Parts: sequence; C-alpha cells; structure tokens
Amino acid sequence: MLLTSISFFPAIGAIAAFMLVYVVFSVIHGLWFSEYSHIPGPRLCKVSRLWLVYFDVRLQRTAKVHEWHEKYGPVILVAPGEVSFSEPSTTREIYRAPGRHPKSGFFDNFIAYGERATFNSLSYEEHREKRNHSFAFFQASSIYLPRFVEPIRGRMVAFLDQIRQDIDQSTGTITLDFFQLSNRYAFDNITRLVLGSDYCTRTIETPGAERVMLDDLKYCEALQPLLFNFPPAYYVLRLAASIIYHDPHFLTGEHSLTEWNTKRVSDKTTDTCAEDSQYTLLGKLQGCRTKLGEPLPASWINAELLDNLNAAQMTVTVTLTYVLWNLARNPEWQVRIRKEIAALPSQEDGFPSFGDINKAPILEACIKESYRLNPISSGRAERVVPVGKEYDGVFLPRGTIVSTSTLAIQHSRSVFTQPHIYNPDRWLQANPDQLRTMERFYIPFGYGARVCLGKAFATVEVKLLVACLLLEYKISEDPSSSTDVKSMAQLGTQDALPKGLRCDLKVQQAF
Ligand code: HEM
Repeated sequence: MLLTSISFFPAIGAIAAFMLVYVVFSVIHGLWFSEYSHIPGPRLCKVSRLWLVYFDVRLQRTAKVHEWHEKYGPVILVAPGEVSFSEPSTTREIYRAPGRHPKSGFFDNFIAYGERATFNSLSYEEHREKRNHSFAFFQASSIYLPRFVEPIRGRMVAFLDQIRQDIDQSTGTITLDFFQLSNRYAFDNITRLVLGSDYCTRTIETPGAERVMLDDLKYCEALQPLLFNFPPAYYVLRLAASIIYHDPHFLTGEHSLTEWNTKRVSDKTTDTCAEDSQYTLLGKLQGCRTKLGEPLPASWINAELLDNLNAAQMTVTVTLTYVLWNLARNPEWQVRIRKEIAALPSQEDGFPSFGDINKAPILEACIKESYRLNPISSGRAERVVPVGKEYDGVFLPRGTIVSTSTLAIQHSRSVFTQPHIYNPDRWLQANPDQLRTMERFYIPFGYGARVCLGKAFATVEVKLLVACLLLEYKISEDPSSSTDVKSMAQLGTQDALPKGLRCDLKVQQAF
C-alpha cells in the first residue's frame, strides 16, 4: 500500500512536468517557429486549435472569425494550419476550378449511406463527375419552367391559406412562427422536386410525423458542432435531455430523415404506377449512367437525394426567416414591394407570374440585402492548399485548410458603407462600377466550381412567397413574443440559424 502511494506521486509529478514542457514547447513553436507564425491572427489561435473549437461548440465560430478579420485583416490564422480569407482575390483562387483545391476532411461529417454526395465529395475530379449528373436539371432554364414553378406556387398558396385560416377574424391579426412555417414550405417543395407529386409531403396543412421530424432537425443542427468535435458528449447530452424532457424524439430528426428518405425512394421505385418520374431528381439520377455505362449505385442515389433534402430545407427556411425579419423591421420597404408587385398583371389565382416577380427590382434588392446582411452559410466552405504558394502575399504550405468567411467578405467596410445596416438602396442606387465591385464581395451561394446547385430553385421559392405574402399582408415585430434582436442573432451553425430557433412575427391584412 505504502509502496503504491510512494510510486504514485512521482508518477503524477512526471506527467505534470511532461505536460508543462509540452505546453511551453507548443507556445514557443506556435508563436515564433511554426510555418504559420508569420500569419496575423489571435495569439491563442497560433498555439492551439482548442481556441477555435471553444467558439465552435459555443456556436460563435462564424461571428468570432468575422471579428478577427476586422481586427487582424483579410488573411488570418484561425487555428494552426487553418487560414481564413475575406477578399475576392483569394476567394477566386481557392474556389475556382483552375485552382483545383479539394474540400477538407470536415465534409466527412456529411457522409451518408457510406457514400459521398456531390456536396461532400473531396477531389476536383470526383466532384466534377458527380455534379455533372444533375447540373443541367438544376439550371435556371430548366427550373423556371412551369412544371417546376407551378408546384412551388401551389405550396405558396397553401401557406397563405394557412395564415388565412389561423388569423383572428375579430382583430384581423395573428402572430406566427415564420421559422417553422417556412421550414414546412421548404420541405414540401424539395420533397416535390426530389420525389414528385405522389411521394412528396404536404406538411403546411397536414400534421403528423414529418412535422415532428422537422421541428427536431433544428436542434440537431444547433448541436452539430458538439457532435463533430466531441461525439461522446453529444450522445450523453442527447440521452440526458430525452430522459429529462420525456421526449424520445429529441435529436432523432437526422436519423428519421434518413429513414424517411430510404423508405420513400424505395416505395416510389417499386411503384409501377408512380407519376412524373422524369421530372424528379430521383428519376433524373436513375436515368444517369457511369462512365462504364452502368446505372448509378442505389446507395449513391439515396445519399445524393438525402443531401439535397438537407441542403434545401434549412437553407431556404433560414433565408425566408431573415428576409421576412428584415422586412418586418423596415416596413417602408414592405410598402415599396407591395406597390411594385401590385402593379404586375395577375394570373388566374390572383398573383403575378413568377417571370414578372423575378424581374421586380425592389423585391430583388430587399432579398439581396438580406442575403448580404444575414448570410446563411457558415463560412466553413473549407478547401485544402494543393501546392504551397503565396495567397495575397502570404505563403501557405501544402495541406493548409483555407476558406473565405462569407460574413466578413459581405461586411467589407471598403465596399458596403455601414455594413451592419439593412439598406436595399445600396443595390438600387449603385452605378454599374459600384455594382460590379459589390458583386465581387457577395457570395451567399458560394463561389466557383462548387457554387450552390439549388440557387434557381431557392430563388423561385423565396421570391414567390415573399412577393405574394406581402401583397396580402403586413408583417411586423411582436413585442409580446420571445423574438427580438438578441434571439435573431445568427448562430455559428452550418446554416446560421437564429439563436432563438424561431421567428415570431405579427401578420395583419394589408387592405
Ligand atoms: C437560399 C438557399 C440556399 C443557400 C443560401 C445555399 C448555399 C449554398 C452554398 C454556400 C453552397 C456551397 C458550399 C460549399 O462550397 O461548400 C451550396 C452548395 C450546394 N447547394 Fe445550396 N443553398 C441554398 C439552397 C439550396 C437548394 C434549394 C438546393 C437543392 C434544391 C441546394 C443544393 C445544393 C447542393 C447540391 C450543393 C453542393 C454543390 C456542389 O458541391 O457542387 N441548395 N449551397
């Protein structure tokens, strides 16, 4: 016993001494001798990755990186071996096809069915082959055709019908959670595009398991950084929370969505009477062939469809939430949009055509300004330096992880005066030169070879809903709700969710 305690204490001492030496060595190496010590940035970021992980788990990573850019400049070290940019020149270099920068290992987190979808394929060659399968399908010239626009229009009408039903007839007003409503709208739309009219959802008007799944997905996303950095802590938290809150569904949304996708794809594939398959993403991919002339593997098709469900539902939800939130706080812009849209010729359902709505400049400027001010993507569009070289005069060795901070580039003070202010006029009043410069600092859908495939689809969804909603209703903040400027601060999650995970807005008939 005595012998054990005598040998125990020196062992602890030795470990402590070793750790101290290790820490001192890491600090000296990181600050003065590492191949990254010449790059500006917070000192702690030069020494250890943990400082960035700390902000990541607290969902403040995106805001912190932006803050560091404001303090240290356009090229900063955010962790040993990880560099963030905020200029168009470096953005072009890392994201355009000729640069051939592969994606980083961060995207391994999104592997499903054991496959890499287009979004999370890493190398340039692998990505190009996969993207080619659906590139033409997603182009605006295809998506803006009536066969794709009309179903979205149908969902927009269902959305407005829901408001009409819920509104208090005596006061003509109601407060609704637009985060939740937009999520149902976005999910119904993407399931229609992926699976067709017979296997899509109608969650706007239909209660059920899919609504429960959607409501849970926002918690899954909010806790993703914990899962990616410390998986055991995530699973312990999930277990504890489901016991404490007696909620067996808590944090099961992602798993449920995968199961839902597998079942629907299988049901549709085996249904001999299934409709309109050639105009669905499933039908399109099932018709594709590999270089060897073989059908694409079913597991890869499942992974690609699941990725599109994920890519489309939360991005569009958060976009709509912030477009409406910014308009609720700036009612003068609602008035201008309403006037602009009301002047357009109406279709049979009383609303203008998407073609006309898409050309409305005030609506366009208001949406664009919201994308600029509240970008949806996390800024973790990480790439890997393939060959050591200089980026804007700063040498980066091979293997360095690089990315552009969307928040930082879109808030550049040299280009956007008062960048924190919602000002759609900056797009309407700009001369052609100014507009060209602003466009170079504007990347809400990413940039280059891997720019968002769903941009045209998202544009139809967002513009149709905002234009037609404002034609009928005024929206405003509701001081009696839990939604305020603080709760609408964006989290550093993959899709930059609002902190309160909801957005209560008051709706009132416009006329
Ligand atoms: C307003 C809504 C949306 C925003 C802001 C957005 C943003 C983005 C961004 C920033 C990327 C690039 C990620 C990277 O470089 O790592 C991306 C990629 C992608 N997005 Fe979107 N997205 C939106 C809606 C959609 C929709 C509706 C779909 C599907 C219908 C979609 C499908 C995809 C796909 C498949 C990729 C991967 C492209 C590739 O790697 O080649 N997105 N999106």
